[in-house]
Amino acid sequence: MGSLPSEAEQYERIRTTVFQSAESAVRLVAASIARLMWKRAAEGRTAVLGLATGSTPVKLYRELIRLHRDEGLSFSNVVTFNLDEYYGLPPHHPESYRHFMEVQLFDHVDISPENIHVPDGLISRSEVFGYCQEYERKILATGGIDVQILGIGRTGHIGFNEPGSGVDSRTRMVALDRLTRRDAARDFRGEENVPAYAITMGVGTILEAKELALLAWGESKAAIVREAIEGPQIDTVPASFLQRHPNCQCYLDEAAARELTRFRFPWKVGPVDWTPSLTRKAVVSLASDLHKPVLRLRDEDYAENGLATLILETGSAYSLNIRIFNELQHTITGWPGGKPNADDSNRPVPAVPGQKRVLVFGPEPLDAELGMAGTLHRLRGHQHEVTFAYLTSGNLGVPDNEARMAISLLHELSADRPMVSQGKDRLELLSDELEKKAAFDEDSRVLRQFKGLIRKAEARASCQVLGLDPSKVLFLDLPFYEKGRYRQFNAADEDVTAVRELCRRIQPHQIYLTGSGAEPGSVSGISFRLVVSALEECAGESWMKACQVWLYASGERPWSPHEIEMAVPLSPAELAVKLDCLYHHRSQRSQTPFLATQSGESWQQAENNNRSTAQHYDRLGLAEYEAIESFRCHKDAESRFS
Ligand code: F6R
Repeated sequence: MGSLPSEAEQYERIRTTVFQSAESAVRLVAASIARLMWKRAAEGRTAVLGLATGSTPVKLYRELIRLHRDEGLSFSNVVTFNLDEYYGLPPHHPESYRHFMEVQLFDHVDISPENIHVPDGLISRSEVFGYCQEYERKILATGGIDVQILGIGRTGHIGFNEPGSGVDSRTRMVALDRLTRRDAARDFRGEENVPAYAITMGVGTILEAKELALLAWGESKAAIVREAIEGPQIDTVPASFLQRHPNCQCYLDEAAARELTRFRFPWKVGPVDWTPSLTRKAVVSLASDLHKPVLRLRDEDYAENGLATLILETGSAYSLNIRIFNELQHTITGWPGGKPNADDSNRPVPAVPGQKRVLVFGPEPLDAELGMAGTLHRLRGHQHEVTFAYLTSGNLGVPDNEARMAISLLHELSADRPMVSQGKDRLELLSDELEKKAAFDEDSRVLRQFKGLIRKAEARASCQVLGLDPSKVLFLDLPFYEKGRYRQFNAADEDVTAVRELCRRIQPHQIYLTGSGAEPGSVSGISFRLVVSALEECAGESWMKACQVWLYASGERPWSPHEIEMAVPLSPAELAVKLDCLYHHRSQRSQTPFLATQSGESWQQAENNNRSTAQHYDRLGLAEYEAIESFRCHKDAESRFS
């Protein structure tokens, strides 16, 4: 390993590099793997790669395939060992890790089938122990793994070593954590379909690899990444054991790195440039930690909590407190479209034009409603011309039982009423396809279309609650989604073109979108990027120069007030309207009521987030509201880490 950590990295116990995007990170990792492969090929030796599945390594595998195709990188001297496999899934099962590896990598490179090792998910229970020992023996027989690629689960697992896995654990059968099963529910179309067990290499097995590369993208990983990198080594966070490895390197995108001390509290790791946004962050976090309103912070509070330089540079707590209080105050507005005929010098949105054209993008139905249904309702109430564009149909998120119910309804209707009888053949086709497919099979084209209709009907009903004009509720059905499936989406020019043309047609004064910190391969991460690309293509156009681009919070976590540039308060009645709107997306309720009570339905989480933002503003000494929806400017969000 190389040099000592820098001042900024002093809290980090795993060498960590933060990249602007997952793409730039994987280019580096792939290049280093390629160097190893070329070197070994030149020496007439094999390179042994430890591989992971899941969303995280998909871009890495695409880059390796590109190197194979365009730069002649051969896999003929490569032996691979995968970390894990779901127990009980046959290799051809669409969600098996064996199938995943074939689709994502093996089918596209010149690797010999006999050099591929993925744990067998069908091994009989009595043979599992011997099988796992044999898996380890095979690794040893190759001379050991040269580079092991790792992702991290939100439980802190590596491989499927869930919390409780010891540092010495070996390849074995394990039970999956509830959160892990919930995270896999989308792939399996319901938590109840996710296998309960898996076979995984142990933590001890992983630590024996010569080099480890831990990759993580997206803000949903940020909290657990911090625990793994900066926390104590503890078996409740198995990834923290990677700190023991002398040659482990962590590759993060900015969103996954956001909780690391160097980004979260940069003033704790060294001298900082007290920019306005960093100052606001420091004051808000001090007030939050001390449970004090901003205006009651004293000089001593700053001095005793590592913020003496801030006071030195700004004069006194008194003036600093007032400044930040006012800044926070000015983020609050009940007029998200601007307040006509009012002084707007301290408002987030200009007063002119009084009636704005507003374009709201929702990656899948329900996303925008969770983030900003109350604001949508308000914008409509203030007579702005709101166009709501659902980028994708969300058909992959509809469980079979919802489709079954809708088909049964149509059957009844067509039995009674001859006028829909022409639709009967189609209905029978749908029924057949639904009934003949096994629980895990992919949906046929017609079935996906039908499921898309279910989501559209729900979306229309929810928009009606918000008072939106039905002719301005658009479904773009972007091709990347219609042609793809989870983890296998590929956005293309045609997607960007559809968004760009819509923007040009509407020429909005305001655009709302989400997904800037989302995992890059997720629907919301892809949607964000392609809307941004479309907007970049419009950059020179006059309407775009005047257009404000707002990001709304995803359902994932409430934003802290220091991150918020527009806070739209909701009254109790408006919150009730929002919930009514959300409930119309009934196909999206949890399919496992028990798990829903444990971790909450998405609408409960949105309600909690909106309430907790309001409580946070209240604790900082601002007005007390029932709930708040939060927004920040796209440009500022982009420069957050610069
Ligand atoms: C998969 C594996 C897991 C994943 C982890 C993250 O082989 O070993 O540890 O790396 O669950 O999954 P994604 O990448 O889907 O977020």
